[in-house]
Amino acid sequence: MSDKEDGSDGVLQQPSESGREDAPSSGERLRLLDLFCCAGGAGRGYADAGFEVVGVDIEPQPRYPFTFIQADALALPLDFLRSFDAIHASPPCQGYSPMRHAPGGKEHPRLIGATRALLEAAGVPWVIENVEEARSEMRSPVMLCGTSFGLGTQGHDLQRHRLFETSFPLTAPPCEHSGRPVVGVYGGHARNRSAKHGGRGTCDGWEGGDVADGQEAMGIDWMTLDQISEAIPPAYTRFIGTILGGLLLTNGAARVQTTPAAMDNGLTT
Ligand SMILES: C[S@@+](CC[C@H](N)C(=O)[O-])C[C@H]1O[C@@H](n2cnc3c(N)ncnc32)[C@H](O)[C@@H]1O
Repeated sequence: MSDKEDGSDGVLQQPSESGREDAPSSGERLRLLDLFCCAGGAGRGYADAGFEVVGVDIEPQPRYPFTFIQADALALPLDFLRSFDAIHASPPCQGYSPMRHAPGGKEHPRLIGATRALLEAAGVPWVIENVEEARSEMRSPVMLCGTSFGLGTQGHDLQRHRLFETSFPLTAPPCEHSGRPVVGVYGGHARNRSAKHGGRGTCDGWEGGDVADGQEAMGIDWMTLDQISEAIPPAYTRFIGTILGGLLLTNGAARVQTTPAAMDNGLTT
């Protein structure tokens, strides 16, 4: 793996003196590893929730706003993973998307299982995020929706349902679908998702938008539309990060591993 050009040694620093098992001492920031980070939609939310964030992506990510390491996430050493207080992973969704069957569509790997195995082996609290179409490969995920966080633009709601499997207890706020038209940000465009346009919404009105619309809808102001299309709204991980940070500060990492999957893997000792 190679470090970002900013000269930071980032993730290569030793774990904090508090170690993985205990709550960090006061004034010490929790550290989160953001795997498959792209341009940092997820990472931004965790940073807003108070985490020091380090991202890993197999492609260069010059817009990533935090310390960045270019590497294959699935080839990272366990010692390295264990130097963090928590790990978020957003493996690529294309292998689960309905578009994978489109004529000329490329083969895309399905990495959720391999990612889970890696995170369970690391044994620190973790989050795996993916699209609704990946539900059959995810264990008891919760779904987050942009309407729960008031996201949208130009009188349109952003729904952008995404699933989150976590190694700790998480309850999602309910969707607040308003009946307003729905905007989708995908494929490098901000689009009207009205029924007329094949989307979930029921009203017509907005005929599509540019990068400013996509940025406003998602709460992201540093990405291209292509990158926004890949991202999750920072509001989602701000919500998760606030809960996770509270659990870590109160209980320490070992006792945050409470899901059946974590129990099965003996990670709660
Ligand atoms: C869906 S995007 C992640 C979006 C990000 N969580 C956000 O909110 O902005 C998936 C990313 O995984 C990266 N990727 C694919 N395979 C990878 C691998 N083996 N290791 C690291 N990154 C990988 C892609 O380059 C892409 O940037």
